Amino acid sequence: MSDTRILVIGACGQVGTELVEELANKFGKDRVIASDIRAEASFDVPYLQLDVMNRERVREVVVDNNVTEVYHLAALLSATAEQNPEFGWKLNMDGLFSILDLGKEGILKKIFWPSSIAVFGPTTPRHDTPQRTIIEPTTVYGISKFAGERWCEYYHTRWGVDVRSVRYPGLIGHKSLPGGGTTDYAVDIFHQALQQGSYECFLSAETALPMMYMSDAVKATIDIMQVPLEEVKIRSSYNISAMSFDPAGVASEIQKHLPDFSISYAPDFRQAIANNWPASIDDAEARADWGWQHAYDLPSMVDDMLKNLRNKLEVSA
Ligand code: SER
Repeated sequence: MSDTRILVIGACGQVGTELVEELANKFGKDRVIASDIRAEASFDVPYLQLDVMNRERVREVVVDNNVTEVYHLAALLSATAEQNPEFGWKLNMDGLFSILDLGKEGILKKIFWPSSIAVFGPTTPRHDTPQRTIIEPTTVYGISKFAGERWCEYYHTRWGVDVRSVRYPGLIGHKSLPGGGTTDYAVDIFHQALQQGSYECFLSAETALPMMYMSDAVKATIDIMQVPLEEVKIRSSYNISAMSFDPAGVASEIQKHLPDFSISYAPDFRQAIANNWPASIDDAEARADWGWQHAYDLPSMVDDMLKNLRNKLEVSA
């Protein structure tokens, strides 16, 4: 562990912002580099501008900084990728190959790359979706994540690349905003509840989806990277799960804290995406193989979100 040097790609995103902080706490600020496509960003660790599609530059950054591990988070999410399918596919796949190839060459010792519940489609069992099941994704994002999973397993089997992955559900956090996902409503609803007292949801009331509080997602990400090699038995991507709710369910939980909060529904194109995704996930294999456990359920997540966001909004007001 003493020679561990970590590069986070896509550090300015919803997961990256919090992951960088946790990695710096765990390994030390001098062992973590944050990078993203933006020219500048503010982190407690060194920051570099990096386009993951620029293979030469990625290699240069990794080699020059003696990077041993990459957390590769840069991607176009489900809703954004539907607006620009060609670019979504290119970014999501080229980016992954540029990192996997550095693993194949032995330059990187370990790689984390997230997959998503978006790999599942309309023919997948919708409740308690198993680890191994019918996978026929219908979005560019889902197709790219499914292809990525197969490539991760291939690079591991064929060339021994130590790549590890989890299928993130919808992620909810108070430190950063999501960008371009179908599950983004579950973050926005908190901001609107506190600022406006009402929220118009782009999914219908009963659209149940698997969700997770950000601290649990960050924990899963760091945990799977720490377990001994042989305990990681799935090299495509692990199902992980914490809670499942629909917009009406999270709204009524928010109403326990803010009785005047109201929600209305105006489903848009994202409804069709959500309709094809699971409502809940079976993550027994992650729990058995590397001891995955979540901490937050719906009531504790809502409580913590409101507390933290209230402080934040008051501070910045
Ligand atoms: N949160 C993602 C999305 O909605 C799913 O991985 O695109």
